[in-house]
Amino acid sequence: MNLIERVRKTERLSSDIYLIRIESERISSSASAGQFVNIKCPGPEVYLRRPISICSIDRSEKTIDIVFQVRGKGTRLLSDIKAGDTLDILGPLGRGFTICPEHKNILVAGGGIGIFPLLQVLKDHPAERKTALLGFRNKSAVVMEDEFNKYSTDLKIATDDGSYGIQGFVTALLQNAISEDRPDMVYICGPAIMMEQCVKLLKEKDIPCEVSMEQRMGCGMGACLVCACKTRSGSDWDYSHVCKDGPVFSGDRIIFESE
Ligand code: FES
Repeated sequence: MNLIERVRKTERLSSDIYLIRIESERISSSASAGQFVNIKCPGPEVYLRRPISICSIDRSEKTIDIVFQVRGKGTRLLSDIKAGDTLDILGPLGRGFTICPEHKNILVAGGGIGIFPLLQVLKDHPAERKTALLGFRNKSAVVMEDEFNKYSTDLKIATDDGSYGIQGFVTALLQNAISEDRPDMVYICGPAIMMEQCVKLLKEKDIPCEVSMEQRMGCGMGACLVCACKTRSGSDWDYSHVCKDGPVFSGDRIIFESE
């Protein structure tokens, strides 16, 4: 599973968001939407790997795209990577989104850097109607609009300050969307509070959803317990490993912090 792969291209998408396209026949042929890779950041002083969700898979070109935000030393070093460099990469890891071919009408709801794993859902899903609702802080944080436009049938963008799209949060877009229409399945990824509110809205309407959890990780393979999150188990609860049991869970299984 541990591979040294070559970087085909890199791109700075905004002030602190970077895309790396990685050549990997094995990962591109076996990965599915919502899975992640665990990457060793360059430099001897960075020990922990960084889990980064797969944003896009090109199975004919045998590449995957990862998109990440620079948040610390490791991701800063990763942002310096150039085409032709190599990366030590583990993956594909985790449980991805469920794609049900019988679903004709799906919706993805993403907030901030949570939008990235949702792109491949739109690319892979055979549904006739694919709505994408994306929320960002402001206009300068809006990224990948063209890609989401290309693979959805209806794209709506909200910004917190109204500098682009509709002013407000993605939850408001979702509330609107489900008051007019009933998707067969909703896929959600973003900040915990946004996902919690989306799940709540959908539960009221009995619309199924899946959420992709972001959690600190260590090993990325179920061995270190760093990534535990609370999940429902019948009438009781238990801890699940985000890296192995997730990162994608059915929305009704997750016990969010405020519950
Ligand atoms: Fe080690 Fe999940 S990251 S168990």
